[in-house]
Amino acid sequence: MCGIIGYTGKKEAAKRLLEGLAALEYRGYDSAGVSFFSEEGKLITLKARGRLANVSAKVDACPEAKTSSCGIGHTRWATHGAPSDVNSHPHGTDALQLVHNGIIENYAELRERLTGEGYVFLSETDTEVAAVLLTSYYKKLGDKEAAFYAAMQELVGSYAFACVFADEPGTVYAARMGSPLIVGVGKGENYVASDITAILRYTKHYYQLGERDFAVVRPDGVTVKNSRGEEVHPPLETATWDVEAAEKGGYPHFMIKEINEEAKTLRDTLSPRIKNGLPDFSGEGFDVSVFRQIDKVHIVACGTAMFAGCAGKCKLEEYAKLPADTEIASEFRYAEPLVGEGDLVILVSQSGETADTLAALRLAKARGAKTLGVVNVIGSSIAREADHVLYTWAGPEISVCSTKAYTVQAALMTLLAVSAGLARGTLAEKRAREVVSLLEHDLPGEIDGILANDGGIRAAAHSLMDTKSMFFIGRGADRFLAMEGSLKLKEITYTHSEAYAAGELKHGTISLIEPGTPVVACCTVPAMFEKMLSNIREVKARGARVIALCPASAEDIRGEADFVLPVPTDDTAVSTIAGATSLQLLAYFLAAERGLDVDKPRNLAKSVTVE
Ligand code: G6P
Repeated sequence: MCGIIGYTGKKEAAKRLLEGLAALEYRGYDSAGVSFFSEEGKLITLKARGRLANVSAKVDACPEAKTSSCGIGHTRWATHGAPSDVNSHPHGTDALQLVHNGIIENYAELRERLTGEGYVFLSETDTEVAAVLLTSYYKKLGDKEAAFYAAMQELVGSYAFACVFADEPGTVYAARMGSPLIVGVGKGENYVASDITAILRYTKHYYQLGERDFAVVRPDGVTVKNSRGEEVHPPLETATWDVEAAEKGGYPHFMIKEINEEAKTLRDTLSPRIKNGLPDFSGEGFDVSVFRQIDKVHIVACGTAMFAGCAGKCKLEEYAKLPADTEIASEFRYAEPLVGEGDLVILVSQSGETADTLAALRLAKARGAKTLGVVNVIGSSIAREADHVLYTWAGPEISVCSTKAYTVQAALMTLLAVSAGLARGTLAEKRAREVVSLLEHDLPGEIDGILANDGGIRAAAHSLMDTKSMFFIGRGADRFLAMEGSLKLKEITYTHSEAYAAGELKHGTISLIEPGTPVVACCTVPAMFEKMLSNIREVKARGARVIALCPASAEDIRGEADFVLPVPTDDTAVSTIAGATSLQLLAYFLAAERGLDVDKPRNLAKSVTVE
C-alpha cells in the first residue's frame, strides 16, 4: 500500500529510485514520482498518474537525472484524492519534498490551520498536509530534526516518510509510525525503503526502523533516534532473499512463477519443523504445551491469509478438538471481541504489516491473550510484536494475488494443528505421522504434478472466457476453499463470483442459476462427496455448467462435470491445500488468456498498511 524509496550515494540516484519503485510497484500503482538533486544541487520533482513507465519516460527526458546522486521516490495506492498527476507523490514546498505511505487521519484540521497560516495546497492528499506541516515547523524552528519531532507530535494516523530538504542535497530524512520502513546499508551509499525487495540488487543489509523512529541517512552514515530523540542502534539485519527470488526468472508473470515455487516453499517451511516424522517447533522456541493451557483459538487475518486461517481452523478442530474461530481482522478489532487470558490468537499475514491484522494483534495482547504470528516477512511488525512468530519460508511474493504464501500458510497451520493434537492427546501418533508424511513427502510432488498436467485446468479456464458471473460451492473445509477460489478469480479476472456453502444454495441463491451459469464445485473432502453430488445435480438441473474440483476417487462427481480440475489425493490432510493450486491456476489461465495485468490487478495493492 504505497511503496517508498530513498537513495544517497555517488551513483545515479534516479536510476536506483526507479529500479526500487519497479520492485515496490506491487504495493500500489495508481501513480509514481521521484524527487532528486541535480549535480548543482537543484531539487527536481517528476511525477505522473498511472504506471511507473510514465515517470520513467519523464526521467529519461531529464538530462539532470544522469548525474543525480540523492533522491526519494514513491509508488501510490490512492487513499486521499483520486489518482492524478497532482495527487501523485512526492509532495512538497519550496523547502522540501516528501513521500509517504500511510494515512494522516487529522489532515483536515491541520490543513485548515495551515491554510490560516497562509499556505496554499495544490492536491487533495493528506501527504501534502504533512509536507506543509513539516515546512511550517522547519521555517519556525530552523532545525530539521526539531521540525520532524514537532510534526510527529501532531500527526495522527500512520506514516512512513522519506524526505529531502532543498537546502541539504545528499541527505534523506526518514520517520515511521505504523507503516513499514527500513534503512538499507551499502558501501558509501545508503537507502530508505518500504521493504528489502526494493534494494536487494544493491544491498542485503538493513536496519529495521522501530515505531516512531527518526533517521538521518547520508552516504557515509546513518543516525537513528527514537521517539524521545535518543540515538539508538538497531541491529544490522541481513536479508536471506536474493535478487533472483524477486525477479520473474523467465516466467511471463510473477503469479505463475510463484505457483511454480509452491513445492519448494513447502519443503523450506515444513522440513525444519519435522523431526523423526513428527512436528517439532522447539527449535524456534515455540512451546506447543500452550495448546493445553488454552480454551479457544482465534485466527485473525485479512484476504487470502484469512482463508489460509480457515484451513487451519478446520485442522485445529479436527486434530486438537480445540474450538477455533476465524475472524476478519477489520471486524475483530471493532467488535469488542471476547478474547482474554484463556485464548490463543493466531495472526496470519504474508507481509506482517497489514494494518487491521496488526491492530487486532495489539488488541489481543492488550486483553491478555497469548499471540502467535504466522508471517512471511522477517522482522515485520506482526513478527516483532506477537509473543511468538512462526515464519513461512515462502520468499518474496510479488504478485498482488497471493498463491505460494497461502499454500505454506495452510500447510504450516496443518502442521501446527498436528502438534496441538499430539500435545492435547486428541490425535493418535499413527495419524500424526501419516499427516506429517503427506505434508512433507507427498504434497510438494502432488502440486508439481498439477502444474505438469494443467491441460484440464486450461480448458476449464478457456470455457470461462465470456463469463460475467459464476459460483463456487463447497462444504466443510471446501466451503473456505471455495471462498479462496472465488477471491482469486474476482481479483485477477474481474469476473463476478460468489462462494457459497453448497447446502445453503437452495435457500435463495439458486434462483441466480441460469442455463450456462458456471459453478465450480469444490470436492476435496470424501465425506462430503455424496452431499456435493446432490448439490451438483441441483444446479445442473437448472442448466449450470459444472467445473468439479475433485480427486480421481470422486467418480460420480466427475461423471456429472463438464470440466474437472485435478486434486491429486483424497486424503483430507492435504487435499484442500492441493486443490487450492488448481483454483489458483484456473484464475491465472483465465486472466492471462484475457490479456489482463495478472500481477497488478486494478484497484488493489499487496500490502495493505491502511485501515
Ligand atoms: C491484500 C492482498 C492479499 C492478502 C491480504 C492480506 O488484500 O492483496 O493478497 O491476502 O492483503 O495480506 P497479508 O500480508 O496480511 O497476508
